[in-house]
Amino acid sequence: MTEKPIILGIETSCDETAVSLIQDSNSGIPKILSNIVSSQFDIHTEFGGVVPELAARSHVEKIDLIAKKAIKESEVNLDKVSAIAATAGPGLIVCLTVGLSFGKALASSLDIPFIGVNHLEGHALSPKLHSKLEYPYLLLLISGGHSQYLSVNGLGDYKRLGTTIDDALGEAFDKIAKLLGIEFPGGPKLEKFAKKGDSHKFELPKPIINKGGCNLSFAGLKTAILRITQKIKTEQEKFDLAASFQKTIEEILYIKTKVAFEEFRKINSQDKSSFVVAGGVAANKGIREILIKVSKENNFDPIFPDLKLCGDNAAMIAMVGLEKFKAKKFDSLDLPANPRLPLDENAKFLKGAGVKI
Ligand code: KG4
Ligand code: ZN
Repeated sequence: MTEKPIILGIETSCDETAVSLIQDSNSGIPKILSNIVSSQFDIHTEFGGVVPELAARSHVEKIDLIAKKAIKESEVNLDKVSAIAATAGPGLIVCLTVGLSFGKALASSLDIPFIGVNHLEGHALSPKLHSKLEYPYLLLLISGGHSQYLSVNGLGDYKRLGTTIDDALGEAFDKIAKLLGIEFPGGPKLEKFAKKGDSHKFELPKPIINKGGCNLSFAGLKTAILRITQKIKTEQEKFDLAASFQKTIEEILYIKTKVAFEEFRKINSQDKSSFVVAGGVAANKGIREILIKVSKENNFDPIFPDLKLCGDNAAMIAMVGLEKFKAKKFDSLDLPANPRLPLDENAKFLKGAGVKI
């Protein structure tokens, strides 16, 4: 019996240094042999956000150690690894370069294929590490840098249905957390903060809610919250504002997801499809609940990555690496890091202010 391929994945696009080994299996769901993630929260907290140079320096200091740890935990001999997959973009160029160079050097020294991976594709395929998932499926990608609805038609085959025209949802969570005095990284803490408040206390705007298809917008919400924070005085009012923000986001996603379902059905004919919600913000419980509700009402099967696979990790990079390995899609060792690597060819024309809504 031939041994199933083993992929070593590397992720260093932002502030997590991560290495993972996974192995294909007969069930179609790969086995995670190890999945080591080292976060840099403590380094960036005092600056209120990720400082690229400090992040890159920390990756350089840690990548070797994290790789050794992941290999040891997997109990795999390096000569059994079939290919190396590393994030090539999008992300911070100084950070991407660390993991990419490390991955290329490893692939070259082991004389095995090297595979560059789109970080967003990693999030998109992350549920395949624990669930069977058939193409095509609808994807909502909500992370610190991206908020998009995409029809995932196959490996590397994406059609974008909608995107944010200003801030990403994770970015909105982080900025609003900062306004409320919550320390970096604010998103997950804001969710806990909101639990102590009354979500009906503040009426917040829902930008472009009835126009622009399933495009999203969060900047107006941030401005409204900034104005309110200048007036409020008590801690309880802060909790109420956080709760009102969380509820407003849930309402926006409920409505926009319904539109995305309609758009997905215009291009895909099957009765029941999967709806995958991925990226760091997919860890938010309230968002999960509302998206499960709207999926059930509209005959979609909601799928979320396991909580430990929502944030940045290298198992998702290895997952894409495995699919590309099986499809023999390898890259050359001069593949550059691309901080703006898009998922679909239209992406670069849609990002930012020029979007028609
Ligand atoms: O996917 P990710 O780990 O990194 C990027 O590729 O961006 O996403 C990080 C983002 C951050 O903005 C973080 O605040 C947000 O996800 N996030 C959350 C929660 N957990 C992480 N936002 C809201 N609620 C959460 N529970
Ligand atoms: Zn990410």
